[in-house]
Amino acid sequence: MPNKNINVLFLGDICSFLGREAAKECIERYKEKKKIDFIIANGENATHGNGLSFNHYQELLSYGINVVTNGNHFLNVRDALNPNLNFEYSLRPINLDPSLPGVGSKVFKCGDIPIKVSNLLGRVYINMSLSNPFYDFEKVLEEDKDIIHIVDFHGEATAEKRCFAEYFDGRITAFIGTHTHVQTNDPKILNKGTFFLSDVGMNGAYDSVLGVEKEGSITRTMKGMPAPFNIARTGVKLSNGVILKIDTVTKRVVKFELINDIYQ
Ligand SMILES: [Fe+2]
Repeated sequence: MPNKNINVLFLGDICSFLGREAAKECIERYKEKKKIDFIIANGENATHGNGLSFNHYQELLSYGINVVTNGNHFLNVRDALNPNLNFEYSLRPINLDPSLPGVGSKVFKCGDIPIKVSNLLGRVYINMSLSNPFYDFEKVLEEDKDIIHIVDFHGEATAEKRCFAEYFDGRITAFIGTHTHVQTNDPKILNKGTFFLSDVGMNGAYDSVLGVEKEGSITRTMKGMPAPFNIARTGVKLSNGVILKIDTVTKRVVKFELINDIYQ
């Protein structure tokens, strides 16, 4: 009997209203067509580009997303610190202060198939107090061996991402980078079998600077002056993601396809 495969859709950083709309349209387009079994999305920009409110977390789940990951904006919406809100299907980066609420790695269920998802923050060009993601992730790997394991590594630098993926090559199913909002054209299977992608990209405003209105971004960058940091709310939507076909016996990615679509 052939091995059973599952299809996992991973959506890049969902940036504000247009990003949530783009994610919804992407799921509607591919859910049946590609027989998607499980959906992971980075939602750290889902609320006005700056965090994840409980309402927006619930909205993303209502689209069929199974797990919402986070990043450097995790603490920018106070809902994240509210112990009365149940973010059961959300992760926050492992290497934040351990006293903070939430978990960074967890086993979820896709039917009867366990899927472990982990979320970490890179330390290069990320100005936060973070513990070493390599050492922290070693501890995560001591549990739940021989399981499908997908990692969202939220980081700025492609070299740091590649180093992390190479170091853990063969011990995880897939390494998917997030945070830069730019999809990289470097998906590959590393030597020991782990799928690697530097950055999966963004769901958000197509005609923008990484989801932000262009005018303020140009002023800040060109003149070094304070300028409005407004998230673009109208216009064409970009949807970036990747679909992974995973063999549930070998726990390896056997086929992959980048998603890079435009919605009017
Ligand atoms: Fe980020």
